[in-house]
Amino acid sequence: MKILVVGSGGREHALCWKLSQNPKVERIMCAPGNGGTALIGENIDIKDDDLPALIALAKDQEVDLVVAGPELPLVLGLENALRLEGIPCFGPNAYAANLEGSKAFSKNVMAEAGVPTADFRVFDEYDSAVSFIKERGVPIVIKADGLAAGKGVVVATTEEEALETLNDMMVKQTFGAAGERVVIEEALSGEEASFLAFCDGENYALLPSSQDHKAAYEGDTGPNTGGMGAYSPAPILPEEKYSETAEMCIKPILKYMAAKGEPFKGVLYAGLMYTENGPSVLEYNVRFGDPECQPLLMRLETDLLEIMFACIDGKLDQVNVTSTAQTACGVVIAAEGYPASYPKGMEITGLADADAMEGVKVFQAGTQLKDGKIVTSGGRVLCVTALGDDLEAAQKKAYEAVEKVHFDKSYFRRDIADKGVARLKEL
Ligand code: AMP
Ligand code: GLY
Repeated sequence: MKILVVGSGGREHALCWKLSQNPKVERIMCAPGNGGTALIGENIDIKDDDLPALIALAKDQEVDLVVAGPELPLVLGLENALRLEGIPCFGPNAYAANLEGSKAFSKNVMAEAGVPTADFRVFDEYDSAVSFIKERGVPIVIKADGLAAGKGVVVATTEEEALETLNDMMVKQTFGAAGERVVIEEALSGEEASFLAFCDGENYALLPSSQDHKAAYEGDTGPNTGGMGAYSPAPILPEEKYSETAEMCIKPILKYMAAKGEPFKGVLYAGLMYTENGPSVLEYNVRFGDPECQPLLMRLETDLLEIMFACIDGKLDQVNVTSTAQTACGVVIAAEGYPASYPKGMEITGLADADAMEGVKVFQAGTQLKDGKIVTSGGRVLCVTALGDDLEAAQKKAYEAVEKVHFDKSYFRRDIADKGVARLKEL
């Protein structure tokens, strides 16, 4: 079987690694891929938003399955286009992908489907948005409607910051068309968790809970990043709560999408916040999180290829999706300066030593295979992921493995999973 994985992050390395464990898989292509995916299969130099080239490749190479890692190709309609060609694609259609592609759409769906979420209003007009901010006061959250590479959300703590953000989005159009419309919502506070489910349009199979670390620096300080580390399970969302949580945030969305004739197939990711009044959905993503994917796939016991085809074929109820009881912890090593500008091209050493540790896997993100060496080519460079019998063991092992890997001008947070460890001690 031939598989094409679209994307180039640590998530895509993890997807290729897991898919390659199925003996039916003869060939894996990754577009555009990274240094890690180059070691598992072939990298093809096509960007994740170049739909015509991706579709042509899938046809030419008679690909049996296309797996979309990031949201952009899905929002652009990759699944719809491949379906017309008779090529199976893992990931939702363009309508359902709008759950991530448009924050206004997503919030309206949540409101209609009865999913708990922060109180919100949608604005297309700058002046009314300004009045609303002045009337509501701070803190207040301003979100660009469209995709903004994870930078389109600002939790403003002063009116000045709120108005400046609004001006950037709606007047200066820093995010282009993505900011023509904004969602302004109530600021919530609490601990966050990620809850992901495989979906086949009707049925769902839950993955264990996980927690990302979005801030660049220790103690959740500094600018927001794509994610500096993740672990699973997250003690804030224990297994005994999975079923009721799915009833709250997964099931209503599947029902809503099915009723619209646009069934949601793929991974539905609910970003939750545990407030004083209970859990609230901050956002939906329509794909695996990065870095949550890495610990989740380390724990997944069931064959991923089988799960993906069951999602596409509407047969997820026939697959028993299980994960190991072990805990997984992934620490991202980034290039100094990320998420702003950072140097590239540094040689990475010690990867094989870290990978040789039992229960450790180094997933590569911003890397490139060049003249037989792995060099950095992005901001988030690696996600060093380890399994352990409990969270402290997984965390300890991940950091031991991190110490074996080196490149110039690297940095990582030393407190990944500390919050979970502290919570477990409280219980
Ligand atoms: P989103 O892309 O909507 O998840 O937003 C990214 C991040 O912004 C979230 O992970 C939260 O940390 C924060 N955020 C989003 N919405 C809110 C809110 N209503 N209140 C407080 N923080 C929020
Ligand atoms: N880790 C958060 C995301 O993938 O959106």
